[in-house]
Amino acid sequence: MTRLSVAQSVLYDAPRTIYFYATSYCNSNCSYCIFRNSNLEMKREHLPLDLLKKVVKESNLLKRTSWVIQGGEIGEHPQAAQIAEFLHLNGHFVTLLTNAIHIPSSIRMLPFVDAITISFDGRRHDIVRGAPGNTESIFEYIKQVREKAINPVDLTLQMTLGPWNTNLDEVIYVKELADEHHVGLRINVASDTGVLGNGNYTQNIEKLAKIEVYFESEGENFTARYLREYVKHLKGERLPCVSTSIYSTILQDGRVLLCQGLDTEEATIGNLHDNRFDDIWNWAMDTRKELRTCNKCGLSCQLMGDIKFDETFYAPES
Ligand SMILES: C[S@@+](CC[C@H](N)C(=O)[O-])C[C@H]1O[C@@H](n2cnc3c(N)ncnc32)[C@H](O)[C@@H]1O
Ligand code: SF4
Ligand code: SF4
Repeated sequence: MTRLSVAQSVLYDAPRTIYFYATSYCNSNCSYCIFRNSNLEMKREHLPLDLLKKVVKESNLLKRTSWVIQGGEIGEHPQAAQIAEFLHLNGHFVTLLTNAIHIPSSIRMLPFVDAITISFDGRRHDIVRGAPGNTESIFEYIKQVREKAINPVDLTLQMTLGPWNTNLDEVIYVKELADEHHVGLRINVASDTGVLGNGNYTQNIEKLAKIEVYFESEGENFTARYLREYVKHLKGERLPCVSTSIYSTILQDGRVLLCQGLDTEEATIGNLHDNRFDDIWNWAMDTRKELRTCNKCGLSCQLMGDIKFDETFYAPES
């Protein structure tokens, strides 16, 4: 089998990661996110644990997936710890994506998670997120995770860049804090489209390019490459999108999405209240192939998928 044919077979058989929005409730009010608690148009609901169990048990395709569990804020889900426990005990790699506002609910999930990503957007974090005291709770949470975790947990800060914090100074500030606390740093660029999109964010290409050069000089090649690809995306050129074939998204109301970058209606391929995950995934096979040339979004979860896939498998057709 050539590298390319390995890549093709890996592409369409099963999703590698599920982005699971277990709840649309949130205890924060981030101006750039559709789940912000002041958004009165957002229907608030939780995906029941029983439905999750049924979906996973009925599925052959979800046997080896990793799960990124989030919301809204997953700690607001009354069964948050049981969700993490169920996935963990079924052998899935579980990443908790949290704002760390309510420390006890995130700590309850600790025995069942392999990695934790905590959102932190820089000096103006509490203001942009409408969450006074959040910066303090993030670093307290990191301290408690270190004290209480029985197994090693991979800790990462995620900085989402919007016009309010896209400058090198801010990024260096967050990077230095991440280094001081011995946690990783992941960069994500705010999007005005897709599942989370809320507004019109015009990104400054020059500032992003400077940030890219900084990460390259720090040896953070993966982040540098993400930003390079993002700049290419802004200029209308980039790699084909494979993320719809290696990821899937499940929303709190049971909808399954092709990706997080398309508008939610357009991305919806089925609902777990009505159909099995495997059927929904397989029905959308042709659409997933067509979307390889989409180029609509530059979300980190999607672009990084392309980069990881590209570095692992991609070989140009000769
Ligand atoms: C939707 S939140 C859910 C988890 C948790 N509530 C949190 O804030 O970490 C997951 C990540 O999405 C990011 N996010 C929110 N709105 C976004 C947008 N419009 N574009 C890109 N990322 C966004 C947040 O900054 C956060 O890091
Ligand atoms: S980014 Fe996270 S914390 Fe902020 S409103 Fe969205 S879901 Fe809530
Ligand atoms: S580029 Fe890929 S992830 Fe982004 S909107 Fe298009 S299909 Fe979705």
